Amino acid sequence: MQVVIKADATAVAEYGAAIFIRQIMQKPDSVLGLATGSTPVALYQQLISAYKAKKISFNQVKSFNLDEYLGLAPEHPQSYRFFMQQQLFNHIDILPENTAVPEGAAADPLQACQDYEQRIVESGGIDLQLLGLGRNGHIGFNEPSSGLRSRTRIKTLTKETIADNARFFSADEYQPHLSITMGIGTILDARKVILLATGESKAVAVKAMIEGPLSASCPASALQLHQNVVVVIDEAAASHLENIAFYRHIEQENEQLLARLGKA
Ligand code: F6R
Repeated sequence: MQVVIKADATAVAEYGAAIFIRQIMQKPDSVLGLATGSTPVALYQQLISAYKAKKISFNQVKSFNLDEYLGLAPEHPQSYRFFMQQQLFNHIDILPENTAVPEGAAADPLQACQDYEQRIVESGGIDLQLLGLGRNGHIGFNEPSSGLRSRTRIKTLTKETIADNARFFSADEYQPHLSITMGIGTILDARKVILLATGESKAVAVKAMIEGPLSASCPASALQLHQNVVVVIDEAAASHLENIAFYRHIEQENEQLLARLGKA
């Protein structure tokens, strides 16, 4: 696990966006795994700017989102499909048919989960997966106790996650308690994973993910099993880490090595 500690949330977004921009430049038909929530918004803004500056095009890119609320139709303002349209898809040249978000309002949601897995396989698999981190260590909507090899399925949200996401819903609005989410096994199949976490409220989960034991109690700790994962966090999210000096040292060594190899 590569741990990159940046000064603040803006620097985290810039670092993450640079990885996405490089990926799309190197492979214009990349398959991207995308996330919703507050954390990736600044990264999406950077991608929109890069597209507008004609640095990258998304016209061959395919995308798969991590999750969706069960029961919300795509046009519902709190649906993750709606979020993606507003935050990214409406501002870039990605083809609508190349963007996939789990079908929250599917007539047969169990079948929709299987179809989603199949569609990922048919696309050739995810090249680069973006993740945020729940305060309880969830990735996607894989809440604590999720199977570490789980696939796309219906998941019950914890009270904590429902409370955390209540900020997006108005008081009289129905907030779903169930979701469709890629499984941890689905996420681990991505060729490269980048997880962003910022702010003090994520510090406990960040520590459990990086330094805790591999455990279903912290679903993000399953990333310890992945061979190509970058965790990009700000100082506040890093504040509970015990080996912080070592992670910084590794980053310096990496930079020096890349400079020596002419790849900086
Ligand atoms: C969203 C998702 C969630 C969020 C996590 C953090 O698609 O899968 O795991 O990444 O809940 O959310 P924020 O970024 O709002 O703190």
